[in-house]
Amino acid sequence: CGIVGYIGANDTKDVLLNGLEKLEYRGYDSAGIATLNPDGLHLFKVKGRIAALRDKVDATVQATMGIGHTRWATHGEPSEDNAHPHQSGSGRFTLVHNGVIENYYELRDQYLTDVTLVSETDTEIVVQLIEVLYQESNDVLTAFRQAMSLLKGSYAIALLDAEDADVIYVAKSKSPLLVGLGDGFNLVASDAMATLKETDTYLEIEDKEVVLVRRNEVQIQKFDGTEVVRAPFKAEIDAADTEKGTYAHFMLKEIDEQPFVMRKIIQEYQDEQDNIKIDADVRAAMLAADRIYIIAAGTSYNAGLVGKQIIENLADTPVEVHIASEFSYNMPLLSKKPLFIFISQSGETADSRAVLVKIKSLGHPSLTITNVPGSTLSREADYTLHLYAGPEIAVASTKAYTAQIAVLTLLAVDTANAKGLTLDFDPLQELAIVASVMESLTDQKEQYADIAKAYFTGTRNAFFIGRGMDYFVVQEASLKLKEISYIQAEGFAGGELKHGTIALIEDGTPVIAISTQENVNYSIRGNVQEVAARGANTCVVSIKGLEQDSDTLVLPHVHPLLTPLVSVVPMQLLAYYAALHRDCDVDKPRNLAKSVTVE
Ligand code: G6P
Repeated sequence: CGIVGYIGANDTKDVLLNGLEKLEYRGYDSAGIATLNPDGLHLFKVKGRIAALRDKVDATVQATMGIGHTRWATHGEPSEDNAHPHQSGSGRFTLVHNGVIENYYELRDQYLTDVTLVSETDTEIVVQLIEVLYQESNDVLTAFRQAMSLLKGSYAIALLDAEDADVIYVAKSKSPLLVGLGDGFNLVASDAMATLKETDTYLEIEDKEVVLVRRNEVQIQKFDGTEVVRAPFKAEIDAADTEKGTYAHFMLKEIDEQPFVMRKIIQEYQDEQDNIKIDADVRAAMLAADRIYIIAAGTSYNAGLVGKQIIENLADTPVEVHIASEFSYNMPLLSKKPLFIFISQSGETADSRAVLVKIKSLGHPSLTITNVPGSTLSREADYTLHLYAGPEIAVASTKAYTAQIAVLTLLAVDTANAKGLTLDFDPLQELAIVASVMESLTDQKEQYADIAKAYFTGTRNAFFIGRGMDYFVVQEASLKLKEISYIQAEGFAGGELKHGTIALIEDGTPVIAISTQENVNYSIRGNVQEVAARGANTCVVSIKGLEQDSDTLVLPHVHPLLTPLVSVVPMQLLAYYAALHRDCDVDKPRNLAKSVTVE
């Protein structure tokens, strides 16, 4: 979900709608805007896409301030009623909100027994609460501040008061929100990407602050009323990077960008003597750790699985990888000197942040590896490593995955060097080879379109199998296919298949096997035979040196530890073309959000 707000001299509709379009990639199911002019408040909401909202907005209504929102349903189904902005009973207050209010039943029962609610959302509780509190104090700022201090959970909020056309009230806790600074106008955005066209200068808002955004002034206050002065920062995103250019989809563009991202990472993490350049503090934290705990979700979790293998192999430090949303309930016994590594493309995943808050309270050190420096996880962890992948817009993550593995590799080698271990592995050289191989793969896209057609048209399920390192990649391969083509897919350990899942193999069931590791080449091929004997439509992706005549694809050789970086590319492309063949919305798959800021 996303928030955009504008207060200035020009008509606000386009800024709001364009901003919401820029946030579409995050995933949403309804949207709305509210604008304020001397005639009053104008509210437009739709279930569905921004394009539908654009059609609905009355083009004749001119207004120089407004707020907009894309909603990804948590409390209450996607519908026009549940879409934001929400209004108080009298219509005086209008508000947009990201996050989840945990105590909304308590607030409703304590403050709103006389109020008729029109939606099923936790957000409406907030705006109604502001109105009730306003009736007591007769002061909007006081009511806003009081309401914010009563909220438990996460929120990023922008509020309009229909009686005051000079200010947008803003506050946040846990959920991201920024104020964009312009000349004669100011903006509010949950993601700088929404308003980059307008400005590259932003003010961070911290938790438990209230911000008054006016046309020519931005005033930050703590809940107790003390003023806060904060220097703005420049967003380091190139607006051009957020455009599709000649590509039909962001996903394809981002798959193609992977060789450049590899080269960028090599460049950014290399010093003048061609050594790996990692912050001394990060190195010290890695050296001090007796065990590393990788915490992540989704694709980042899958990258963590590969990272574990690489770190243990090269740096000789034990690593555990945990799903963020499970960690807090299933916390393992921790070692004496743990280091927590949070892997997160967006740096905003609430499940991961919950773990960060917990382990910080236990006094453990933390490192965030993210594509968005300045994101919540990067600000709140002790250290950050940047992925340098450029904005990733497609919901299905591709270049962030390979960037995460590459950065983890450099981190592992740096630690190994600092430990004095002798390695027969030059990571900068090996990653450069990976970049060239990636390029050769993305240069031959047509074949993937054909393979996707042969294996995935009309199928209801698919299996990906692998062993060792390849097992981690097949998990990512199946996730990609599920996310964007809606084919039920599983990534399975080749040897485990016979212990149950093989029962699902029927005539024509697609089974894609990856074989890039010499020690399991023989056994994974045995597993392929087992499913073929039961009617499966098999496809083997192998690597030069291990190939057999019947293999569908043979990847050029890369170092065995880095094969996931190249074997994942055909998997991404297969998922992409499968989704295209099935007429799916590749960049904005149903039900998914790019960055999930609720637990
Ligand atoms: C969402 C996205 C996934 C992503 C996951 C973790 O579920 O749809 O593509 O892998 O969040 O996101 P993060 O930003 O923490 O890497």
